[in-house]
Amino acid sequence: MASTWLVVLGLAFWAAIAAALPDVPSVANFMRKATANAVVLGDFVYVDGGEMSQKVDGKVATFKDRDGSVIFSVQVNSTVSIDMSKSWTSDSVAMRTIKKQGPLKTNMQAWADRSANVFYSWGGKWIRGFNMTETTLWKFAADGSGGGTWSVAPAANPSLLNTLHPGEFAAVAATSDSAFVMGGVASGWTEQFRAITQTLPGMATYNLSTRVWQNGTTNFSPFDRIAGASAEFVPSFGPNGLIFAFGGFAPPADDPNPDFGTSPNFDLQNLTFFDPQTKKTYSQVTTGDVPPYPRSEFCTAGFSDPSGRHEIFMFGGTNRRDKFAYNDSYVLSLPGFVWTKLPDSPDGVRTTQACVVVGNRQVLSIGGVDGFGKGYNDVDPAPQGLLLFDMVDQKWSHSYNASAPAYESPKAIQDLYSAG
Ligand SMILES: *[C@@H]1O[C@H](CO)[C@@H](O)[C@H](O)[C@H]1NC(C)=O
Ligand SMILES: *[C@@H]1O[C@H](CO)[C@@H](O)[C@H](O)[C@H]1NC(C)=O
Ligand SMILES: *[C@@H]1O[C@H](CO)[C@@H](O)[C@H](O)[C@H]1NC(C)=O
Ligand SMILES: *[C@@H]1O[C@H](CO)[C@@H](O)[C@H](O)[C@H]1NC(C)=O
Ligand SMILES: *[C@@H]1O[C@H](CO)[C@@H](O)[C@H](O)[C@H]1NC(C)=O
Ligand SMILES: *[C@@H]1O[C@H](CO)[C@@H](O)[C@H](O)[C@H]1NC(C)=O
Ligand SMILES: *[C@@H]1O[C@H](CO)[C@@H](O)[C@H](O)[C@H]1NC(C)=O
Repeated sequence: MASTWLVVLGLAFWAAIAAALPDVPSVANFMRKATANAVVLGDFVYVDGGEMSQKVDGKVATFKDRDGSVIFSVQVNSTVSIDMSKSWTSDSVAMRTIKKQGPLKTNMQAWADRSANVFYSWGGKWIRGFNMTETTLWKFAADGSGGGTWSVAPAANPSLLNTLHPGEFAAVAATSDSAFVMGGVASGWTEQFRAITQTLPGMATYNLSTRVWQNGTTNFSPFDRIAGASAEFVPSFGPNGLIFAFGGFAPPADDPNPDFGTSPNFDLQNLTFFDPQTKKTYSQVTTGDVPPYPRSEFCTAGFSDPSGRHEIFMFGGTNRRDKFAYNDSYVLSLPGFVWTKLPDSPDGVRTTQACVVVGNRQVLSIGGVDGFGKGYNDVDPAPQGLLLFDMVDQKWSHSYNASAPAYESPKAIQDLYSAG
């Protein structure tokens, strides 16, 4: 999977494919799932898009590319929901499939409007460029009981929307008012009739209440180019909150076939963040256990504590320069700008997983593969690809606790502050 977006357009197409497989295989049949999006709406986690591999009758299901080579993954065709009002374990969790209207893609950019109980999906990739259609913004409206429906979300300014290039590997953050899509890479598999692969400069925004899109590249953009990064909105600092971007790469502007591996990377010591309203950009040097970098295609999740601190969890990802994936996790504590190392994942390295905050103080990590290892031809040690991390106890597990106590900064982090 690691560099499918580098593959020249048209190199590989599907040959005949066996009957469709289930989107939620049994624990015994599940192998790997990655590049899905996840959001929390009410009592449910919704997991959308991505690709997966599985077994059928004890054998690894394989598919053929046009060139005859064997591939192991196909796109997930449903949106999947998980009920978080009850405790569960990764090997017994019930997952519901919801039929998708709209394109079946992977690696999309998604953001939630939690007050409206909806999430949006923009860009992403048609794997192997199959069955592509014109790109628009799609919206999923949750029904409050684990289901919901997809529809097109029309823009108030369609002429601007029509000029936007949909890509993948963008960093996305949303406030209660707007979504911010930073950078990314556009290719012939993310945009119909696109001839060349290019990194997208700057930042596009979508206002949730006015439905107005803006391309901020020349007027407001915290970054020139950025891909494979992760972004978090931190509501509690400054008049409008702040949006942080972590990691990723800055492929050169005119590179016709940008390669993360040889591109300049963003460091994780000197962080960049901006005010979502004024777009003013700041930077701050962190201390503590700064996570190793280059790092891209990892996941993050943010927690606010009652005393006004905000902690950002970071997990896994890829070092494309040195060609390996990470198994480690870290937490950045704000406003101290201190990194603390957390325990490694007990289930190996993973990249392109999704992380969400669940049950007050837990992180749910969904999917992920070792892009430099066996990729999709591998059985995930985590049942159904689901891993949980309790931020306060600082422990990994395969069980979700629906009645876990409220979040509070972990003791070690509180001590950092009291030590001054
Ligand atoms: C999704 O649909 C395609 C086309 O029908 C099919 O080939 C594929 O197997 C389906 N995905 C899964 C996970 O079964
Ligand atoms: C593409 O669309 C055709 C016609 O609807 C369908 O039969 C085929 O399974 C689709 N392929 C994929 C990979 O979704
Ligand atoms: C925004 O506009 C610039 C040109 O000013 C263009 O290069 C860029 O691709 C646009 N961004 C998106 C996401 O389409
Ligand atoms: C941190 O990054 C910013 C923006 O790239 C730069 O202006 C600043 O000089 C850097 N700070 C340090 C200490 O390197
Ligand atoms: C979004 O639109 C609302 C209503 O016009 C406006 O108040 C708000 O400032 C806009 N958000 C941004 C980030 O520009
Ligand atoms: C995580 O990876 C590192 C580097 O390969 C390794 O030393 C460490 O033992 C791994 N941790 C776990 C829990 O497997
Ligand atoms: C969930 O957390 C609560 C509060 O700490 C505890 O009493 C309960 O035993 C936990 N439940 C599970 C399933 O671990």
